Amino acid sequence: MSSVSLDNNNCLLIQIDNVSKFSLHTQWLRERLSESDYIDSNNKQRLYEPSLLNENLKIIKYSLDGNSLHISFSDGANGTLLLQNLLSEINKTDIIPLKTPWKNNFTNLPIYDHEKLSNQKNLMQMLENFQQLGFVIISNISKEEGTVINFAESLGPVRTTNFGKHFDVVSKPNPNDLAYTSLGLTAHTDNPYRKPIPGIQILHCIANEAEGGDSCLVDGFAIAEHLRETDKEAFEILTQTDVLFKFTDKDILLENYGKLIELDDFGNYMQSRFSGRLDFVTYLEPKKLEKFYSARRKIFNLYASKEFEINFRLESGMLMMFDNLRILHGRTEYDPNTGFRHLQGCYIDHDSTEGKLRLLKSIEANK
Ligand SMILES: [Fe+2]
Repeated sequence: MSSVSLDNNNCLLIQIDNVSKFSLHTQWLRERLSESDYIDSNNKQRLYEPSLLNENLKIIKYSLDGNSLHISFSDGANGTLLLQNLLSEINKTDIIPLKTPWKNNFTNLPIYDHEKLSNQKNLMQMLENFQQLGFVIISNISKEEGTVINFAESLGPVRTTNFGKHFDVVSKPNPNDLAYTSLGLTAHTDNPYRKPIPGIQILHCIANEAEGGDSCLVDGFAIAEHLRETDKEAFEILTQTDVLFKFTDKDILLENYGKLIELDDFGNYMQSRFSGRLDFVTYLEPKKLEKFYSARRKIFNLYASKEFEINFRLESGMLMMFDNLRILHGRTEYDPNTGFRHLQGCYIDHDSTEGKLRLLKSIEANK
């Protein structure tokens, strides 16, 4: 049973089942009125500037009718707010699922048949899984060149870089990146030297007929949490030490600093950066550097460990999409003399996958 009352400061007190109590500021409530006098019904944007509201605004009338809070303000504004919406906002409840850390213990990899993604429910499930795991694999998609762009643009705009709108991962002479050789690539995140770093990578397999060239993925989030629990010193060094990442070719020199594990202001995991072929730790006293190198060696070994790293083969007509701020990717060496290998890749932003999922979930919730 919920009840409402006003306190001495004209804040609305909401009591929920004798369990929790929230004090809500008058203007905070006023700004949430969603009637057509206050919010454009089409684009949901405010029709007024909230900073121009009367600073002495008061609640003059209120009543709670089940889940509906009817409320009138001293400036003549009035409307109905849904209690459950206010509580969701107070509790920061999000319709986007939380990240689920994973190790190399999948019973089934998250593989989605491309033809079935035209069904909105399947698309929603795929995007939810992507939010949780940070990667999905798509099967039964065209083998043609350009498929990666078509798939990416079905989700959102493509991030063009100095590699172009897409990049071709094939072995070629004098490449400007080791990706364009047949060398094995240990697990890494792409482009930590960019501002901003590309959020999501999509890699589509056109041909994979060579011996070798299997793919690997590893969850940077799971390993960060593992380190936090098992090796506090290494975790602290990796979350506090600035590393410079660089890219250079004949046209451009890109540089950006960042931590190998980045946390937010509350100490929660934000992102991983790892690209051992282009990182330069900032100058530190040798004793501190000794500790950094030891911590980097440790995380490198975790990224390469059987406990955490999954291995699979992308066949022609498959693609993988992964969160480049969380998931590290790599491949085994391949022999270009045994067959042709050609992948095409591109980048999109988190806005695309998260924004589409929010839309699909809100449509579902309002059905
Ligand atoms: Fe890469």
